[in-house]
Parts: sequence; structure tokens; C-alpha cells
Amino acid sequence: MTTYKEIFENNKQWVKEKLAADTNYFDKLAEGQDPDFLYIGCSDSRVTAEELMGMKPGEVFVHRNIANIVGNNDLNVMSVINYAVDQLKVKHIVVCGHYYCGGVKAAMQSRDMGILNPWLRNIRDVYRLHHAELKVIDTEDAKYRRLIELNVQEQCLNVIKTAAVQRQYLSSGFPIVHGWVFDIKTGKLIDLNIPFEQRLKEIQEVYDLGKQINKPCDDENK
Ligand code: CO
Repeated sequence: MTTYKEIFENNKQWVKEKLAADTNYFDKLAEGQDPDFLYIGCSDSRVTAEELMGMKPGEVFVHRNIANIVGNNDLNVMSVINYAVDQLKVKHIVVCGHYYCGGVKAAMQSRDMGILNPWLRNIRDVYRLHHAELKVIDTEDAKYRRLIELNVQEQCLNVIKTAAVQRQYLSSGFPIVHGWVFDIKTGKLIDLNIPFEQRLKEIQEVYDLGKQINKPCDDENK
């Protein structure tokens, strides 16, 4: 177990190693970021973002919360997506779930979880949407794994529902939205191969927000 004090010793060591490899390492980092990936994952301490992808500081814009939820009225995740798409112009948005997710497990139980209820409802809604498929799965374990995958799929759809993603994709061909599951037991990343183009088309039949509206400040400039 790492003590509080040791963290600062670790940091000193890390700075030393980085500078030994490249004396300008931190100067370069300070110049700015230009990541191609937005990663939306779970807060679970076992599921890191950069480390499991083999990525370095500056390469991934990261958002994490309990059970990798992309909630329509969550100002935090919506701000992250908008900034990543409009300003950073990321090429890929990844929603990464993981097997053995405590948030999904909690949502599968018939219990009042207090303040967590509205958050877990996002996952219970996924369960309800896919109830027909889930109810015929024999074991609780298999059901648990499948709900984790379905939750990732639904959160990808929530990313695609945003105006920023639709508008940017129609004008530049990016970002592409991907769904992954990290298997804690093997360390492997599994690509759920979500057919992005097809999903975008389906979503736009109902949630078509791709057109840019005229902002008042645009009129003033005319
Ligand atoms: Co989790």
C-alpha cells in the first residue's frame, strides 16, 4: 500500500525519469494538448485510461464517472464532449466499460441506494430497454456481463445524440464513436465494433441536430 508521503517521492522519481529521457519533456507538455482521443470510462481504480491503451500524457482527453454514463443532463460529461469535439477536434470518442463493474452490479440489485438512485437509473433504463434479451440469459454472471456491454452501447448512442458530434461528423468525417469493454480478468480490451455510420443514421431519424443554428453574434458580424 502506498502511503500519502510516498506519492510525492514517486512524483520526484517520475520527473527525474522523464527529464533523463528528454530534458524538454515538461516544456513540450506545457505548450498545449492535441489529443486524437476522448476516453469516457468508469471511475473504478482498476481501470485506468492511458495505461491500458499504452498512451502518454497529452494523447487522451479523459472523462470518468461511475459506470461510464453519458447522461443528457450531466453538464460535466456534456461539457467534456463539446470541448473535445469543437475545440480539440478529437478523431475518436471511446466509451469504455469493464467487466466486474460495481456500478452496473448495484443497478442490478433491487435496493434503494439513496443519492445513487438517479445515477443508477441510467443503467436500470438500459436494463429495461433490453429486458427481452436479458431475461432469457440463464446465469446472473452472464446477464451481468451482457448488461455491461449493452450499457456501453447505449452510452455510445447518447454520445451520437449530441449536436456537437453530429455537426462535426457531417462537416469533417470525425469523430468516430467506439464502444469498448475492458476485461479486468485478462487485461484485454474488447472492441464491441459498433457500426458507427449505421447508428448515426438511425439516431438522426429522431435526434437530428446536425444543422448549425444562426447565433445572434453571427448576425451582428454580417
Ligand atoms: Co465500473
